[in-house]
Amino acid sequence: MTANLVEVHEKAKEYDWDFTFTEKKPKFDTKYNIPTKGKDPFRMLVRDYMKMEAEKDDRTHGFIDGALRMGIAEKMEPRFNECLKLTLLDLNNAEYAAVAACGGLISTLQNQELRQGYHAQMLDEIRHTQLEMALRNYYVKNVPDPAGWDIGQKALFQHPGGLVAIGEFQHFNTGDPIDCIIDLNVVIETAYTNILLVAAPQSAVLNGDHALATTFLSIQSDEARHMANGYGSLISVLRNEENVPFINDALERHFWHAHKGLDALVGWQAEYGSVNRAWAYKDQWQEWIVDDFIGGYLEGLGEFGVEVPRFLGKAVEDLDWMTHTVGQVFSAIWPLNFWRSDAMNEKDYEWHEKHYPGWHKYFGAYWDGYKQLADPAGGHIILQELESLPPICQVCQLPCALPRLDINEFRLVEVNGSQYPTCSEGCEWILRKWPKAYTRRKQFWAKYHGWDLADVISDLGYIRPDGKTLVGQPTVSPDQKMWTIDDIRSLKYEVKDPLHGVCH
Ligand code: BEZ
Ligand code: FE
Ligand code: FE
Repeated sequence: MTANLVEVHEKAKEYDWDFTFTEKKPKFDTKYNIPTKGKDPFRMLVRDYMKMEAEKDDRTHGFIDGALRMGIAEKMEPRFNECLKLTLLDLNNAEYAAVAACGGLISTLQNQELRQGYHAQMLDEIRHTQLEMALRNYYVKNVPDPAGWDIGQKALFQHPGGLVAIGEFQHFNTGDPIDCIIDLNVVIETAYTNILLVAAPQSAVLNGDHALATTFLSIQSDEARHMANGYGSLISVLRNEENVPFINDALERHFWHAHKGLDALVGWQAEYGSVNRAWAYKDQWQEWIVDDFIGGYLEGLGEFGVEVPRFLGKAVEDLDWMTHTVGQVFSAIWPLNFWRSDAMNEKDYEWHEKHYPGWHKYFGAYWDGYKQLADPAGGHIILQELESLPPICQVCQLPCALPRLDINEFRLVEVNGSQYPTCSEGCEWILRKWPKAYTRRKQFWAKYHGWDLADVISDLGYIRPDGKTLVGQPTVSPDQKMWTIDDIRSLKYEVKDPLHGVCH
């Protein structure tokens, strides 16, 4: 930036004003002491910003146009695209929550330099929301089986897997604004977007999805700006020692919650949504989260009093089994999904055992049984084999079956005389410390307790346009005989809330 531009930039920030005609009331108060002057991490003018982003948009949309003509949508692995019916929507929800987050920050932060940074970020997040909508539009119009993509927006908010993301990403824009920054900019954007938006494109390409890779990489090229916003904000509040314990609590909370939500969804997409896998999820985690984020970023802030989350070791341990248990649970509830699940085959068995020794012992028999029940003529589903449905964690919204069913860490937690299910020590700690944020949620199983499974599916609307074939199917095999709502009705399977009579 030339001297002149620096001046212009400084001048731009002078166009700030106080409210004289109304009382300015932020939606959420802050407990932090925030300095009124900071460092705008970018010093970017809207004019330059627009030019750069327009160029990136042109390239991405241009690629999609080319992909269309090359028929790429028909050539990608169906297994990959099916799982994306959940995970891309989860991500789209995150982007939208991030737009709202920036709006909230701009209106509550009394620090014009930081505001300037969040202004640019808000435009980025709108761009991301739109790019992902464009990708969804491309899929719904071009993939061989668009069922699920067409109802995604509604379906997401009903499905337990959608509620995992909604539960995690609400923290971007709900509550103390500095806590929101710690979740969005520090934990998610600095630690996690590398796995999500740099590593995931590698799996996308290996599974034939070049459009996703192009879109995600374009999104990630904005994230450096958001990481810098987080860093700038963190450094500002770290200047006051009184803020340090709040920062450490927020880091602990959001690191754990992000581990649960993001690792479950992104790890599942990578390992159970891929036919060809680029890497083991836990190895990516070691590189991006442990080495870079913890070792490089957080430890560097140690001299200001920032602590490494005490649940870090537990998160690392979980990763040995977490993606597999999520794969097991999502496939076990396949009739309730708005995508086609897939069975693991011999090649998958080998890969899992090689990267996660012991996998076969714990998961092999499950997948053998799963495959045997794939044909509707068998008149039986794997859900009927389970002793009970897994309770859903009140905090992270994942099944309380983690890290592995036989060593699950389910615990009931009493808050103000009521019992709540949680999946782990970390989620228990969060629930006890911030009960108001989580205790009003009603769980999926409680909502449908006593219902016939066929009625649940009809209520969710996860049925194809012929009025009878389910969106969810147990495999993506071309030989799969498609299950109908009548097949499900003849099972006479009643949904039973495992905590009926125990929890509110
Ligand atoms: C983003 O800011 O673009 C983002 C937020 C959450 C997850 C992934 C990306
Ligand atoms: Fe974004
Ligand atoms: Fe972002």
